[in-house]
Amino acid sequence: MESTTRLDASQVEEDRYRLLVDAIADYAIYMLDTDGRVTSWNAGAERFKGYTRDEILGEHFSRFYTEEDRAAGKPARALETAEAEGRFEAEGWRQRKDGERFWAHVIIDPIRRPDGTLLGYAKITRDLTERREAEEILRRSEQQFRLLVQGVTDYAIYMLDREGRVSNWNAGAERIKGYRPEEIIGEHFSRFYSPEDRAAGLPQRGLATAMREGRFEKEGWRVRKDGSRFYAHVIIDAIKGDDGEVIGFAKITRDITERREAQRELELAREALFQSQKMEAIGQLTGGIAHDFNNLLMAVLGSLELLRKRMPPDPRLTPLIDNAVQGAERGAALTQRMLAFARKQELKLEPVRLNELVASMTGLLQPSLGPGIVIETDLPDDLPAVQSDPSQLEVALLNLAVNARDAMGENGAIRFTARPETVATVQHGGLAPGNYVHLAVSDTGEGMDAETLARATEPFFTTKGVGKGTGLGLAMVHGVAAQSGGQLRLSSKPGEGTTAELWLPVGGQAAKADAAPAAAPEAPTPRLKVLAVDDDNLVLVNTAYMLEDLGHTVVQAGSGAEALEILGAGEPFDLIVTDQAMPQMTGLQLAEHVAAGWPGLPLVLATGYAEVSPDADPGLARLAKPFTQKDLAVAIARAARPASPRSPA
Ligand SMILES: Nc1ncnc2c1ncn2[C@@H]1O[C@H](COP(=O)(O)OP(=O)(O)OP(=O)(O)O)[C@@H](O)[C@H]1O
Ligand SMILES: [Mg+2]
Repeated sequence: MESTTRLDASQVEEDRYRLLVDAIADYAIYMLDTDGRVTSWNAGAERFKGYTRDEILGEHFSRFYTEEDRAAGKPARALETAEAEGRFEAEGWRQRKDGERFWAHVIIDPIRRPDGTLLGYAKITRDLTERREAEEILRRSEQQFRLLVQGVTDYAIYMLDREGRVSNWNAGAERIKGYRPEEIIGEHFSRFYSPEDRAAGLPQRGLATAMREGRFEKEGWRVRKDGSRFYAHVIIDAIKGDDGEVIGFAKITRDITERREAQRELELAREALFQSQKMEAIGQLTGGIAHDFNNLLMAVLGSLELLRKRMPPDPRLTPLIDNAVQGAERGAALTQRMLAFARKQELKLEPVRLNELVASMTGLLQPSLGPGIVIETDLPDDLPAVQSDPSQLEVALLNLAVNARDAMGENGAIRFTARPETVATVQHGGLAPGNYVHLAVSDTGEGMDAETLARATEPFFTTKGVGKGTGLGLAMVHGVAAQSGGQLRLSSKPGEGTTAELWLPVGGQAAKADAAPAAAPEAPTPRLKVLAVDDDNLVLVNTAYMLEDLGHTVVQAGSGAEALEILGAGEPFDLIVTDQAMPQMTGLQLAEHVAAGWPGLPLVLATGYAEVSPDADPGLARLAKPFTQKDLAVAIARAARPASPRSPA
């Protein structure tokens, strides 16, 4: 009874094993006899080898091998190994019933009786095809990824260990930083930083941030192997292991020096454009105001002049008139500066020798400076002549020198230096290519902060207080330089003095300094019948008074059309004095009609600002506004003597 129970129990256990083995579908579990023939077969074996139990029992297991492996004797060797070593384990290709191959993991264990004799083999096979495929895909993608990272040349991509030592290096890193992999792997990445940044602890801070926040991103200067610097965009990402601990860092660096440079150029260009547009707008405004004021002041001055002439000398009245004249003259001088800034001044461009100009100007200036202020000049003797208006240029230099003086206390130095310069390409601010003389006026004064510097040439900008500075000094210098085809550039820092650079175009042979000025003809001119034309009645009346005072007979016309009407009526005239800037018909247009209809009738053209190019018609007598009675007399004398050759100014 007891033995039966034990037998039953072992039977039950065996059945359980069988059920278990049969149920396993993921492993082929079966037995071989000592020759290698199949003696049992489970569900897993059937599933992935494709044979049913009936088909395979008694067959030799070598049929699961590929033909090549069979030919090479692998099945027999597997059994030998299992018997000799107690176990055989391998991976390799096997064949299903339908001939399809699969990648198998195989274990063969020998089965022995208690006395040691061999009974057969237990064989466990697993289909690893899918896993192998997945591994293969992973391997290939890793390889491709490595090739990709390796091949990227625009980005330095590399890794650091936890301490910041370089652990790999791609082609981009080599290209950008200049180190070969064998030179740099194992080195600390802080060597890519500048000494200042290293001293300031920047590399460590970058790593600490990446460690703490997972990521660090910044732009800054880095150093190549050859010591040159480049502007880098840097990302450091922390790399975490499976346990979440940081095991190192991925670093991506891009060289953005060029992009940064291009951006800065763009900003500068934009800034320059904005500045020039602003100046242009202010220029037009200033020019317009100055033009109108000029006409008003001319009328005031002209009338005062005549009044002084006609009035009997009276000590109670004369000083008042003198005072009024002085005030009006100061106003006229201001409008001149405004016109100069607006580049609307009548410039008499001619070759100017700066050496002589500076010498005479400093001679003029010296007495007004205290004993503690010295003037130094350093101009080469063979400096080429520049193309400008000598008297305006002298005023410009005086303005610069006065600014220098105002910026210094009791002691200091004003220095004039000059050298020839060639501009090869178009520069910011629009200096055309060509030859220039670079004249610098520098002082050791208080200098300017950036804000003052940016606005210094703006008209009416002054830091000198109401009534002290007009803020038109530099505006005038700027205008004269620009109108001469050159430029004014200022550089200054608080406490480091100021340098004003005048760039003036080289031009022609300078006239001899002592050349006699065109002699003003003091010879009495005959009494003439003059037609005066101006659309501004105030100016017209003033001109007419001046002409009458000179002894001429005057007929007034308020426009070109009216003038032509008067001429057309047949009245004979000896001379026409006309304003240029008139609506409908300009002075030049009137001159054309006159030349066509009344050939030989002389004409004086009064121009308030440079709206007529100086060489428009060299035959015309030109009169710059505002003009005095004497200026008018000279112009008339020149125009009314057609026999004498008219010198083209
Ligand atoms: N050499 C210089 N050193 C320091 N600041 C200067 C210098 N030149 C000009 N500036 C600054 O630029 C401003 C404008 O100069 P600008 O010559 O146009 O007018 P101003 O000197 O104030 O008046 P004005 O010329 O009519 O006397 C000055 O008020 C001053 O703040
Ligand atoms: Mg000034």
